[in-house]
Amino acid sequence: MANYDVIIIGAGPGGYVSAIRCAQLGLKTAVVEGRETLGGTCLNVGCIPSKALLHATHMLHEAEHNFADMGLKGKSPSVDWKQMQAYKDDVIGQNTGGIEFLFKKNKIDWIKGWATIPAPGKVQVGDDVHETKNIVIASGSEPASIPGVEIDENRIVSSTGALTLPKVPKKMIVIGAGVIGLELGSVYQRLGAEVTVVEYMDAVCPGMDADVQRTFKRILEKQGLNIITGAAVKSAEALKSKAKVTYAPKKGGDDVTIEADYVLVATGRKPFADGLGLDALGLQITERGQIAVDSHWKTNIDGIYAIGDVTPGPMLAHKAEDEGMAVAEVLAGKHGHVNYGVIPGVVYTTPEVATVGQTEAELKAAGMKKPKVGKFMFMGNARAKAVHQGDGFVKLIVHPETDRVLGAAIIGPAAGDMIHEICVAMEFGASAEDIALTCHAHPTYSEAVREAALACGNGAIHS
Ligand code: NAI
Repeated sequence: MANYDVIIIGAGPGGYVSAIRCAQLGLKTAVVEGRETLGGTCLNVGCIPSKALLHATHMLHEAEHNFADMGLKGKSPSVDWKQMQAYKDDVIGQNTGGIEFLFKKNKIDWIKGWATIPAPGKVQVGDDVHETKNIVIASGSEPASIPGVEIDENRIVSSTGALTLPKVPKKMIVIGAGVIGLELGSVYQRLGAEVTVVEYMDAVCPGMDADVQRTFKRILEKQGLNIITGAAVKSAEALKSKAKVTYAPKKGGDDVTIEADYVLVATGRKPFADGLGLDALGLQITERGQIAVDSHWKTNIDGIYAIGDVTPGPMLAHKAEDEGMAVAEVLAGKHGHVNYGVIPGVVYTTPEVATVGQTEAELKAAGMKKPKVGKFMFMGNARAKAVHQGDGFVKLIVHPETDRVLGAAIIGPAAGDMIHEICVAMEFGASAEDIALTCHAHPTYSEAVREAALACGNGAIHS
């Protein structure tokens, strides 16, 4: 079979981005993908479809709750679930088709099917064995459940099944108040379902800034989500037309059983490398089932690399993309680098939540006595108030002596876009004063970032 410089296994954001960069750098590149369409979990059953549903249901929320106030009178729109699904599918199609176009443009071969690695330098798909100098495994992740809970994608669904429920449920239980649980929980709550989120920890989004966690929970509850924290789910059972979930309150007392039409299991994801033949190859796997790699994404076997969700680190599309580009640079004999200290995390609810760098708690745990904090409430931001999104804040965390920006958390409108100003500042080693001295257009949400930076110095103007 044709000889390649690199064969990439998996066409998700890690794999397809890596392939494009490899091709741009002059490497003869192929990608093996078994799905009918390119783009992996993110484009087909993850980030992109969920964002379409979040957008549509946010519009519905605006119509139901804020239109009349803005003088837009009339009957609120009714939900045509079939049409909303068609809109979502169209968004998926446009994006996956876009990747196929980019593959053709960059002369990347798409080998259709599921790959096995019979030996270093060989990738088998069906009966064909392809020879290649290098292999990059970018096979991603799949939903993980918890003991006592079996996902059947019928009554007890993962994020994949939750995107295509046959109808809008009257009642839904979400296990896990992480990113998936809160995004998809919001979607169905806005569509009119009574949604109960059951979370093991005492706060939503474990690991996030505590201030953000409290504000986020309060806002979501005000929107109508029922969030039960400190509750360990022990089992879920699918019945004919509904499902039951039993949890143990952590503070003690009897187990509680609740019922709903559907249960969404959003308790994390696990690396996916089934069928690749990694055991036979002797590829080193971590205790958590991830492929172990060095600082250049090389596995313990020469010529085999791995990136994205199948490797350690946050399971985020953009982390995989960065690694995909960097490993391509390494394969082309250049210098690939990823700054793991500056990888933003975003929850695409309304309001959005975005974080980057270190939290106050992490800095204190690392020995910094008093990190400096500049906080600015969106209530003081004219633009946010104009769009009914004055709840939330920007919080900058900076070094108490040098003023260098070390982290940030934003809960508010367009937080997921605004966070990048802070990412760039961090990449350049900027101080809060650098941000404060930068002119920000008025009226924008971004002014709140500048105000938070001003709050690290002599004070914000509008608070
Ligand atoms: P997650 O790790 O964010 O949240 C899982 C939640 O389930 C945690 O809060 C955990 O405490 C809870 N949990 C675990 N066992 C439990 C039990 N027995 N009872 C009650 N609660 C329990 O995982 P999630 O939301 O499933 O997302 C999976 C991955 O996908 C994450 O790495 C996430 O970052 C990524 N993702 C990112 C998105 C984004 O960037 N916007 C969107 C969707 C997913």
